[in-house]
This record gives sequence, structure tokens and C-alpha cells, in this order.
Amino acid sequence: MPHDFLPGLAGVPAAKSAVSDVDGQRGILEYRGIRIEELCVKSSFLETTHLLLFGRLPTKSELDRFVEDVTHHRRIKYRIVDLLKCLPEHGHPMDALQAAVAALGMFYPGRNVKDIDNNYWSAVRLIAKLPTIVAAYARLRRGDEQIPPRDDLDFCEDFLYMLTEKLPEPVWTETLDVCLILHAEHTMNASTFTGLVTASTLADPYTVVTSSIGALKGPLHGGANEEVVQMLREIGTPARARPYLERKLKDKQKIMGLGHRVYKVKDPRATILQGVCERLFRECGTSPLYEVALEVERVAGELLGEKKIYPNVDFYSGIIYDKMGIEVDFFTPLFAMARVAGWLAHWFEQLRENKLFRPDQIYEGEHNRPYVPIEKR
Ligand SMILES: CC(C)(COP(=O)(O)OP(=O)(O)OC[C@H]1O[C@@H](n2cnc3c(N)ncnc32)[C@H](O)[C@@H]1OP(=O)(O)O)[C@@H](O)C(=O)NCCC(=O)NCCS
Repeated sequence: MPHDFLPGLAGVPAAKSAVSDVDGQRGILEYRGIRIEELCVKSSFLETTHLLLFGRLPTKSELDRFVEDVTHHRRIKYRIVDLLKCLPEHGHPMDALQAAVAALGMFYPGRNVKDIDNNYWSAVRLIAKLPTIVAAYARLRRGDEQIPPRDDLDFCEDFLYMLTEKLPEPVWTETLDVCLILHAEHTMNASTFTGLVTASTLADPYTVVTSSIGALKGPLHGGANEEVVQMLREIGTPARARPYLERKLKDKQKIMGLGHRVYKVKDPRATILQGVCERLFRECGTSPLYEVALEVERVAGELLGEKKIYPNVDFYSGIIYDKMGIEVDFFTPLFAMARVAGWLAHWFEQLRENKLFRPDQIYEGEHNRPYVPIEKR
């Protein structure tokens, strides 16, 4: 039966899901029915991960067990560290993360995705080990030793400790926790869909997450937060925002961190992150990038508001990570550390009623062409 071709599958449902929901007209995002605004204030990244994976908030004992399981699986094999050491120091950390996650699958080869218990431990390992891999590569590529995780530290504290060898101030761990909650899940999107396509072949979860990491890397998806900070640095001062935007739009170029396929109002995650920026800058001193970002948002409202193009999640997150001292090319790996929760939640969901993805195409080529011998071409 012929179907209309919808570029980018825009608006085509690829799955039935109860993981999260977006109301793009009203700017509402819910995880398992709970608004993100509430989760950011009351929950933690690991509790939110439990909510996403298993469909409900955990009891105290369930949460304790989940946190303990994740905490005890943070270590990575020395061979993974050796693998990271062999990668080029100027390589992109998303490539390093993708390589290391693919390699993880070789150490934990539970291939039977019908085994629920095995799937639980795979999910725990992935959530636990991604931060260790990211922090390890950040240090190794500048010639420092990897710092192993510490079981006495909580998830965000431990990540920042592995990165810097210092115990972070609570303001940094709280900020990171909110950032991770906001990046943990976002309905059907390029990286989730990519993971689900891979998962539909009954590939193991390490391969599923490796696929998703590849899709997340692109500048139209997770890679946008890097480009936002580069753009804000290039603009330099608020006064230069308007001429910069006008020039870009005249050249038909996109402004990074603005616009969204679903949101036709300001992305609620951008609103929360802007609040986080303000709190952080009150406590730790402002960032010149923030002043530029405010002006870019204001001018973009005038120039692009008619097209309903407003800041998305990537607009303010990079400014926060920059203030935390995280290198620009590590912004997307931080996104992956959080989004692995959403990828795995959709994977769990799909496994219950899996069907191999095998879409159709509209063939526009020729038929019955003769094979021309090479000497006659
Ligand atoms: C995210 C994105 C790919 C979604 O776009 P989409 O739904 O596919 O919309 P389109 O790319 O078809 O754009 C629709 C119109 O809005 C314009 N537009 C969309 N995003 C824009 C942006 N960031 N800057 C300037 N114009 C933009 C397009 O030029 C187009 O204009 P036209 O109709 O006059 O040709 C797009 O907004 C974008 O590239 N944003 C920048 C990258 C980014 O921040 N990505 C992170 C997403 S969370």
C-alpha cells in the first residue's frame, strides 16, 4: 500500500510508549506522567532513572538497592582504561565513549535479551559505567592517570571527583544532578529511535547504546550544546548579538540552541536551566557567556519568534558546564551519561513486544538498465 513520504518521519509514530510525553504547544514535559519541574526539585538523577526504567517512583528500599547496585558497578576493567589510553588525544570524547561502550559488551556478553535479570544488570552497568568512562578519557587524554570511582560518594559527586580529583562543593553536584534529570529522557527522538532500530534486531544493550551514542553526537541533536558555547564565545559581547544573528539568518544559517521539532514555545528544560544558571551565577559569580546568551534569546525572539523558534535544552546547558570547568567537547558525553536512562527505558519497553524495524522506501531509480562493459563506458 503506498504511503505519503514524510521527510525525517516528522510526526510519524515509531512506537507506543508510556515513558515520557511532550506537549510542544504548552511546553510541558513529563516523565512517566510527572512534570520535570517537580522532578528537578524533589528527585535525584538515580531516582528519576528508576522511575523511567521501571515506570514508577521507587520505595525507599527499592531506591537504596538501585543506588547500591549502580554504585557497585562503577568500576571499569583496566583493559577499557588501556583502550582509552590508545585513542588519539585530539579525538572527540563521544567517539571514545562509543568505542568504550561497544567494548563493554565484549566483557559482559549476556546476549540473551529475553533474560530479564540479565537485562537489569546490563542497565545498571551502563548507567554506572558511562560516567567512569567519560571522566577517565577526560583525564587520560591530557596525560593524567584515571581516578577510580569511590563508593562513598554519590553519583554526581563521584563523577566530578573522578574528573578533578577534588571533592566538589554541593552547589556543583546539585547543579549537575538537575542537568542529568533534564537530559535523561525526551520521548521519541533521533538517538532513541536509532537505539530502538538496533534493539529491534535483538542486539545486546551495549550495541543498542553504542548506536544511540552515535546518533546523539550530531550537531542537530546532542552536539548542539557544544556549538552554542562556541557561538556565544564568537559573539563575545551582548552588543554584537544582533549583527551576528542578522548575518547568520541572511546567510540562511541556523542559530544553534534554538528551535525544536516538537516545541513551539520555549523548551521547558531551557526555562529550568536558565533558573539554574541564575542560581549558580549568584553563588559562584556570573559568566560573560550568560549575558551574551540573554541578548541572543531576546534578539532571536524578535527575529524568529514568528516562526515559533525559541531556546531549546542545549541553549543554556553548555553555559552551565562551561562554568563548571568542563571542556566543551565533553558536553555531549554528559548528555549521553543522562540519556542512557531514557534509551534503556525505551529498550525495556520495546522488548515486551518487539518487532523488527523494516520500513519501506519510495524507489526513484531506473529499471532494466543494461550492464555496459567497462571498455564501453
Ligand atoms: C532542531 C531543529 C533541527 C528542528 O528543526 P525542524 O523541525 O526540522 O525545522 P526546520 O529545520 O525544517 O526549520 C523550519 C524553519 O525554521 C527555521 N529554523 C529552525 N531552526 C532554526 C534555527 N535554530 N535558527 C534559525 N532558523 C531556524 C528554518 O530555517 C526553517 O525556516 P524556513 O521555513 O523559512 O525555511 C532545528 O530547529 C535546528 O537545526 N536547530 C539548531 C540545532 C539545535 O539547536 N539542535 C538541538 C535540538 S534539541
